Amino acid sequence: MTTYAKISVTAKLAAYMRRFSDIPFAEDVAEVLQAREAFDALLAGSGLQPDDLLWYAPIFEVRYKSIAAAIRASRVRQVVEMASGVSLRGLAMAQDPAMSYVETDLAEITAEKVGLVAELRRRHTLPDYENHHLVAANALDPADLHVAVHSFRRNLPFRQIAVVNEGLFQYLSAGEMETVARNVRALLVEFGGVWITPDFSIKADVRNVSERQQRFRAIVATATDRPMYNNAFDNDAQLDAFLARLGLRGHVVSQLDTAAESVSIGALQLPRESLERSRSALNLWILSPVNAL
Ligand SMILES: C[S@@+](CC[C@H](N)C(=O)[O-])C[C@H]1O[C@@H](n2cnc3c(N)ncnc32)[C@H](O)[C@@H]1O
Repeated sequence: MTTYAKISVTAKLAAYMRRFSDIPFAEDVAEVLQAREAFDALLAGSGLQPDDLLWYAPIFEVRYKSIAAAIRASRVRQVVEMASGVSLRGLAMAQDPAMSYVETDLAEITAEKVGLVAELRRRHTLPDYENHHLVAANALDPADLHVAVHSFRRNLPFRQIAVVNEGLFQYLSAGEMETVARNVRALLVEFGGVWITPDFSIKADVRNVSERQQRFRAIVATATDRPMYNNAFDNDAQLDAFLARLGLRGHVVSQLDTAAESVSIGALQLPRESLERSRSALNLWILSPVNAL
């Protein structure tokens, strides 16, 4: 098992959270992968139940939807997603034959996803335009990422690719995050395009959490062998300096203003203002290499 493989347990938690939404395939994914059972196993003996954490569901939904909306708004037709877990934005977007979507993650979870996608194709009789690819790639390894995008076209007139990741940086050290950011920049320099990610954190947002959230984070940290949010920035200025040092710039938007309505908030009868309370932490960065803007 690689040092990163333990993080894979979190992919099924995200799948469970999204099942209350209208995200394509979310309910199937949770059922086929027995995401509830995985969640139960993770929380066993902790005194927490999955239902105690369902207020996270709209947060996962909005994050997913804001990224999908940003990809559509970018008008990019070639997307490579890192650490995509068992999320199926790629399969959903590849229902448009003009899109080419490469989903990557570590080898073990990618192998599981191959079976999952085959099952979903069968259940929903999905056409296969050969534009949805599942490739094992460590986001820290530039060679892996390079292989992942080998099918992408290079001669498009404008913004050739989008690189996407969600829910990865929370588990990385500052050094690892920088390595991934450099790898993304290299891809964007080669192809042209944008990096769409909600994954940067600011310490004030990360610390502003309830006791229950702290307990949940401790459980996840034990399961993944990784402290969460260890790479959070002191403030926005420090994040801006980090991006500038790496030769990246762009803009930040609120996930709440970018995503479509949250369906899970109604399905779970959660207070509408619960998402608003998290607004400052729900951002989406849309970045490009400085010289390629
Ligand atoms: C919280 S899950 C998020 C999955 C997915 N993006 C989502 O939102 O449902 C974190 C994912 O990061 C993956 N991961 C961890 N380290 C990685 C690495 N070095 N390279 C690629 N993927 C990695 C895990 O396997 C896991 O699928």
